[in-house]
Amino acid sequence: MNIFRKCYCRTFQAAFRLALPLLPYRSPQLLSGIDRVPKILRQQHCTRVLIVTDADITRLKLIRPLQQALTRQGISWFCYDRTSANPTTDNVEEAKALYLKHGCSAIIGFGGGSSLDCAKAAGARIVKPRQSLQKMKGILKIRRRLPLLIAIPTTAGTGSEATLAAVITDSVTRRKYPINDFVLTPDYAVLDPCITVSLPPFLTATTGIDALTHAIEAYLGNSATRDTRKAARKAVHLIFTSLDQAFRDGTDIRARKCMLIASYYAGCAFTKSYVGYVHAIAHSLGGEYGVPHGLANAVLLPSVLEAYGSSIHEKLRQLAIAAGLADRHTPRREAAKRFLDAIHEMKTRFGIPSAIPELRKEDIPRLAHYADREANPLYPVPVLMDAGELERLYLIFLRKEDNL
Ligand SMILES: NC(=O)c1ccc[n+]([C@@H]2O[C@H](COP(=O)([O-])OP(=O)(O)OC[C@H]3O[C@@H](n4cnc5c(N)ncnc54)[C@H](O)[C@@H]3O)[C@@H](O)[C@H]2O)c1
Ligand SMILES: [Fe+2]
Repeated sequence: MNIFRKCYCRTFQAAFRLALPLLPYRSPQLLSGIDRVPKILRQQHCTRVLIVTDADITRLKLIRPLQQALTRQGISWFCYDRTSANPTTDNVEEAKALYLKHGCSAIIGFGGGSSLDCAKAAGARIVKPRQSLQKMKGILKIRRRLPLLIAIPTTAGTGSEATLAAVITDSVTRRKYPINDFVLTPDYAVLDPCITVSLPPFLTATTGIDALTHAIEAYLGNSATRDTRKAARKAVHLIFTSLDQAFRDGTDIRARKCMLIASYYAGCAFTKSYVGYVHAIAHSLGGEYGVPHGLANAVLLPSVLEAYGSSIHEKLRQLAIAAGLADRHTPRREAAKRFLDAIHEMKTRFGIPSAIPELRKEDIPRLAHYADREANPLYPVPVLMDAGELERLYLIFLRKEDNL
């Protein structure tokens, strides 16, 4: 990246860092079980609620206990269950239409990050009917209070229940983009490990690595604060001590609970301290080819970290200590290597590939341009890269036979 653009990016990021203590960040109120949800709705005088979820969750009947609890308390519910992985603008509009048709006054996002983000974006469109999702892209474009929003994550994962972001894919252009605004932070979040038990091992692994990526990218960025660093280290510790067990035995409630808490902490870290190029590239692949978000991050993570070079070794050493891979006497370079090796080994154990088979060489300039536009100047990454430099990163993830 040329020196002028670098100066612009770093100045932009410094301004946001200075403003950080003044900005109205908030956290959701945490609830331990879905049985608390009807009472909250009653207290807020909400008697008609829209549930946003996806077809697999409906098929697995995961949502039944919530629906029964609502019915018992006389709360009418209406279910939108057509959310796709990498939720689209069409999904959001359909969910919004259902909300309006039934005169609802609250929204529950129930599912993985896709359902939670679809619920958030539907809320934004309900309060801003004249502003398209495309116009909400970026930061602080909504600025109007959403209807009561409750997030119930069933993956551990995205941390969307803790964040001010919703990531949406344009149904026509297939471009995936984050919408960031304080009003998107849910009012309540239910962290119940029992509803994550049915998550299959591979999805457990990839969504778990998504949470790991949030913690690492937030930690490495220049806008990390004492609190977000602490949250990120806690998340890394929990993931390194629980993800393998949740992968091996999905019914282990302790491991599932640790992963949900890790995902939440990682969400708290990155909502204030941002993500980095792993996410910017993953979003371009999710939008263009529908590559699941956790899988894209899991494929990309170690290679992008390696591209940052020795500038991140000290921070990786600190994360290696949090992960139990090093102690404070371990030399920086050695500790950083152990941390990167551990991520590579984790990928091998979980059967995560090293390429994105859908990626086509001719698409790379356009995708790199999308990633550049998403990340620069907003993400305070440790090493700035422009579209040309990002293109070289994409080449790593081509299938070997396509990279000749
Ligand atoms: N808003 C944010 O802060 C934020 C952060 C990171 C990622 N995201 C977004 O979240 C989306 C990805 O979410 P995700 O990784 O949680 O996956 P997902 O929501 O797309 O779900 C993936 C699959 O897992 C299934 N599933 C979910 N929970 C299950 C369970 N308990 N048992 C069985 N199957 C279950 C779903 O039905 C779906 O088929 C992406 O669009 C990504 O961009 C948002
Ligand atoms: Fe993510």
